[in-house]
Amino acid sequence: MASVSSAADYAPRTSWVPQVLPVIAGLSVFAIYATLRALEGNYFQWGPYLSPFYSPLIDVHHRYWPFSPALLILAGPLSFRVTCYYYRKAYYGAFFLDPPACAVPEKSGRTYCGETQFPFILQNIHRYTLYLAVIFLTFLWHDAFKSLLFENGIGVGVGSLVLLINVVLLTLYLCSCHSLRHLLGGKLNCFSCANFGRGRYSMWRRLSFLNEHHMLFAWISLFSVGFADFYGRMVSCGAIRDLRLP
Ligand code: FES
Repeated sequence: MASVSSAADYAPRTSWVPQVLPVIAGLSVFAIYATLRALEGNYFQWGPYLSPFYSPLIDVHHRYWPFSPALLILAGPLSFRVTCYYYRKAYYGAFFLDPPACAVPEKSGRTYCGETQFPFILQNIHRYTLYLAVIFLTFLWHDAFKSLLFENGIGVGVGSLVLLINVVLLTLYLCSCHSLRHLLGGKLNCFSCANFGRGRYSMWRRLSFLNEHHMLFAWISLFSVGFADFYGRMVSCGAIRDLRLP
């Protein structure tokens, strides 16, 4: 008589360990760097440039808040990233081994319950953090344009390009969000029956294309935001000189 197949029977023959190590390394490096920089409270402004970790800049002169101004805004971008569907999959597997990979069974004694129970059920706030992310992104676009306004007139520095590229990558990350795609059309069964159906269908198709690359945008925007801050810090503390493009 044939035996009943278990998840382990379908587990891939290759180990899942090499898949989770780069995720652990990438997220750990970013988390450590971002935490240190947010706590530092210094070297976040240089000429017309502002670090994305500190934007929007609140109470820079410490009238009401004695600590780093980055801590006042950290919850906004962080809640959007932490609850992102892609990152959830990545860190559940990499840090909690829950589950470590597709078709790899749970440790004995543990029952996989997805996100139906506390505290993971709170991840559902992602659809609301999306609105917060749109507000933060608006400030970052403002900073990117402001980075072209030097004391002696309009110009383009390497820092301006770094901030512009960063905000474009962050925009791609946000536009490829699963919640945004759902909001615009994913929840509809019939576009032609809905208000603005034609326009929504067209937007939904574009967002669906971006959505297929969400993992890529999640990673490159994570590193671009870290690099934009790092570049600014280096210029601000005098370690490197910002070049103005002719
Ligand atoms: S699902 Fe990743 S940002 Fe929304």
